Amino acid sequence: MSWQATVLTLFPEMFPGPLGLSLAGRALEGGVWSCSAQDLRQHGLGRHRAVDDSPFGGGAGMVMRPDVVDAALAATQAGADVPRVFLTPRGRPLRQQDVQRYAQGPGLVLLCGRFEGVDERVLQSREIEQVSIGDYVLSGGETAALVLLDACIRLLPGVMGSEESGVEESFSAGLLEYPHYTRPAVWEGQDVPEVLLSGNHAAIAAWRQKQAEEITRERRPDLWSAWLARTEKNGAAATGKTGQTGQTGV
Ligand code: ADE
Repeated sequence: MSWQATVLTLFPEMFPGPLGLSLAGRALEGGVWSCSAQDLRQHGLGRHRAVDDSPFGGGAGMVMRPDVVDAALAATQAGADVPRVFLTPRGRPLRQQDVQRYAQGPGLVLLCGRFEGVDERVLQSREIEQVSIGDYVLSGGETAALVLLDACIRLLPGVMGSEESGVEESFSAGLLEYPHYTRPAVWEGQDVPEVLLSGNHAAIAAWRQKQAEEITRERRPDLWSAWLARTEKNGAAATGKTGQTGQTGV
């Protein structure tokens, strides 16, 4: 049984899009996941197959009709155990732990909005999670859906090589990743940090941990506070001596 992505959209041609290439594309061909993009317009009303209407109370833009969205949801025949997600900047911010939960399940039904939004009643009545991929506004939910799918697919069993998947555990450490270096050892007069050439694995791990902590403290005070609170609770000092390797993480 493959992980099933069902996307409800006015632009089904946008899927699988970039997810048909590279890692996700190979997994799609190999049957690890499948992608079914359904045109919301199929459920549109009247001669023009209208999917939207003007907002009650006035204001700019159009709103997707609840009956049209409901018909599209019903037509997916996805089981009750498949989370339904509406991509919207008004949603709960997407985190790696959500992605892990979605990837462990049977798949997702993703509702992509265009226009001003979707009638609130169908969102409330049909148990639809509202998720945002960041504090900026995209022209529609499709690119957000691609981001969410990408994040899920790379976690599906067999998609990543063992090398990358080993890193996953440390994701939950909640630190941004340490910097990387490769050849040449000197580039434009800049050396690689000496410790990385030392062959001393313990020293390298400690250096990376410290870098991860410093970068997180500088760039993401929110993650840093959360990490500090966690490590202090666990009785470990944030000094690069926790024995963990710092990794990208949220
Ligand atoms: N649709 C438009 N902007 C979005 C965002 N930031 N996240 C999720 N869906 C969106």
